[in-house]
Amino acid sequence: MEAARQNIENELKKLYRDEKERIASLAGTYLGDMDNPVFGDGNFHARLMFIGEAPGSDEALIGKPFVGKAGMQLDGMLKAAQIDRSEVFITNVVKYRPMKPTSRRMSNRTPSAREIREGLELLRREIALVRPSMIASLGNTPLAAMSLIAGIDVMKIGDVHAAPTVIKIGGLSAILFPLYHPASTIYNRELTQVLQDDLVSLGKIYTQMRMKI
Ligand code: URA
Repeated sequence: MEAARQNIENELKKLYRDEKERIASLAGTYLGDMDNPVFGDGNFHARLMFIGEAPGSDEALIGKPFVGKAGMQLDGMLKAAQIDRSEVFITNVVKYRPMKPTSRRMSNRTPSAREIREGLELLRREIALVRPSMIASLGNTPLAAMSLIAGIDVMKIGDVHAAPTVIKIGGLSAILFPLYHPASTIYNRELTQVLQDDLVSLGKIYTQMRMKI
């Protein structure tokens, strides 16, 4: 088990080294923080993988996904689902912080379709290495990415949140569980309860799955 874990970690490190170089080469092509990429982090044997959109400024500063404010939101989500953060693996579709200038500072932007497409191969490889039984996508960007990887029609979060779909990725079969992105509740307060209810459903499915091991 320990040797297998070490192997996954080493393979991921190799992939992330290559991606770091690719990202550095994108400076000047896309507006983003190409000097501070953020890669996947967490349990290499996770049964559950969370996929976000892209890092924000706190993540770029610290070098880990979902830290700072977004991290507190994700921790709250995990608590609602009664899942310990140490059990899960967390990554993003785009591994650098996409940025746009606003009047006083740089702010985050949604990655373009092209940036999403360019993130798919690494995401597919991360999934193939960790081999989760369940994948929770956070918002539309990772939902689109997962639909593309699985070769199915691109789904929209408003239509499919908390509706589990079995997807096939290479030889792996996993349950895709679409969730709203935690930040979406800041702009639409009504989503707070929706997300809360969806997390309780996620927690139930995850617990059943864990009991089957
Ligand atoms: N939002 C994301 O989608 N990913 C992060 O890592 C942080 C915020």
